[in-house]
Amino acid sequence: MKYQHIVLGVTGGIAAYKSPDLVRRLREQGAKVRVVMTQGAQQFVTPLTFQAVSGHSVHTTLLDAQAESAFGHIDLARWADGVLIAPASAQALAKLAQGFADDLLSTLCLATQAPIYVAPAMNQQMWKAPATQRNCQLLRQHGVTFLGPAEGAQACGETGAGRMLEPLDIVEQLSHTTSASPLANKKVLITAGPTREDIDPVRFISNRSSGRMGYAVAQAAHALGAEVQLISGPVNLTPPAGVSRIDVYSAQDMLNAVQQQLSGTDIFIATAAVADYRPAQQAAQKIKKNNTQASLELEPTPDILAWVSAQTKAPFTVGFAAETHDVAEYAKRKLAHKKLDMIAANQVGLADQGFDSAYNALTLFWQNPNGLIEEHALALTDKFHLAQQLLESVMQRYQKKILTISAR
Ligand code: PMT
Repeated sequence: MKYQHIVLGVTGGIAAYKSPDLVRRLREQGAKVRVVMTQGAQQFVTPLTFQAVSGHSVHTTLLDAQAESAFGHIDLARWADGVLIAPASAQALAKLAQGFADDLLSTLCLATQAPIYVAPAMNQQMWKAPATQRNCQLLRQHGVTFLGPAEGAQACGETGAGRMLEPLDIVEQLSHTTSASPLANKKVLITAGPTREDIDPVRFISNRSSGRMGYAVAQAAHALGAEVQLISGPVNLTPPAGVSRIDVYSAQDMLNAVQQQLSGTDIFIATAAVADYRPAQQAAQKIKKNNTQASLELEPTPDILAWVSAQTKAPFTVGFAAETHDVAEYAKRKLAHKKLDMIAANQVGLADQGFDSAYNALTLFWQNPNGLIEEHALALTDKFHLAQQLLESVMQRYQKKILTISAR
């Protein structure tokens, strides 16, 4: 465990019943844990429970003369090398985002220099509410790292995103995130999955993309501290914890969503298998079968990737190239033609690799300052580990590009 001195803030929510177990798991990893409870948290679990599992008295009030003389909020703020708030209620996130200092937990969060982690837990509508999402965006900009929330059935009977991560998952994610998150304060926009282009109300043109590659890139970017916005075609996947997703249907919908989300984006990664063509006309009613041959007139869809790279303030732009043959040759052409910073080429049409598989291999191509194309091969592995390696290369190239621009 990276953190040896953890202040665990517990706020009011039914998920607080899991927090004593979290204390136990953190201590198993060798961390010393001091617990701070809000008034709301004490409605769900007693301080005595946390005292028993942490081995220390629990801190509940800001202006407690006895506590201040012994181990007050400034001491706690200095003692911590990591602050974790779990569960973090909507109210706690709002207070943290606005810099309130009206109780012990909010005050010590302002006073600490330690990295702050939050594990949100709330009703799914409250999590989706624009006010909560705005607060989360502010907190990410302030360097706060989000662990979760998870999706699933909630105590209130609803289903959706807003469940606190399980204690083991929180400990696991804490162990893997570093305080110097390389993508902290960076916005990464990712397209994933297929698009569908309607022929008539019952038929469409699409492809075999499952979305797994894009979702893995989103998960890996989030783990590196980025604010990740995923724009996804129709797939059967749950968005990774902490990643917000916009669902789209067609290439035109995907373009519209990218255009809306591009502002403030530092890195754009186009893993989506966007349909290249769509029916020139969509029939309003089901096309009836007759026994003559039928043909479909197709027109090109808008090229989302080319649109992004053509913007005056384009982000670092990464395309994918899916090819069945002459992979390197076609990928290099797309790199130049679409004016990309990098392209990740993969061979498709093979069994258990690429489309609709848990595994993939990539070759990355980019142009160096002398105009020569460089390449780096990433061997066949599961898509999450591949995504981590891809992001390593993206970050290196991105840093070089930023340095070059600022040196001009
Ligand atoms: O989803 P999975 O099952 O995990 O499979 C992963 C994958 C094989 C889909 C993925 O690794 C991949 O290769 N994605 C790109 C697929 C593709 O459409 O490649 P392309 O060579 O046709 O397109 C080149 C690039 O232009 C891509 O980045 C694509 O997103 C983009 N594009 C294409 C057409 C279009 N109209 N707009 C675009 O933005």
